[in-house]
Amino acid sequence: MRIAWGPEYELGILVIDQQHKRIVDYINALDRLAGEPDAYLGIARILYDLVDYTESHFSFEEALMERAGYKELDDHHHVHRQFTLRIESLLRSNEQGEDVAESLLQLLEKWLLHHILEEDRAYTDQVRNFINSIGRERLGGWVNENVRKHFRVS
Ligand SMILES: [Fe+2]
Repeated sequence: MRIAWGPEYELGILVIDQQHKRIVDYINALDRLAGEPDAYLGIARILYDLVDYTESHFSFEEALMERAGYKELDDHHHVHRQFTLRIESLLRSNEQGEDVAESLLQLLEKWLLHHILEEDRAYTDQVRNFINSIGRERLGGWVNENVRKHFRVS
């Protein structure tokens, strides 16, 4: 295992932390694929999952920031968009037979250390205040509704 998820990566917002854990899962999966003869297929699977992940997690996170009245939402959205474009570009390169494993690993590790630990942390206080202000019961309703809206939940 390349990275073990631990409290140092948590923002203290359970629903977001659970989603962020997936980045660590992808990093470890990529690490396991290194040097495998059929790595291309595994990497393609991870990239397709990441396209889905970025759409669902980012829109959920942005909805939460918006609901909490976070002022830096536009800048944060822009950073999300840049990451999405980078993933899409790696997906195309992988489809063209390029070995993108190392670039993807670096991108995800940088994302974990810089985006999740710094840029996401910047909204944490405000989002937590919002969560505390509306109470657990209403938050549960909001989370349920928005998980359904942004993730493919059957
Ligand atoms: Fe984010």
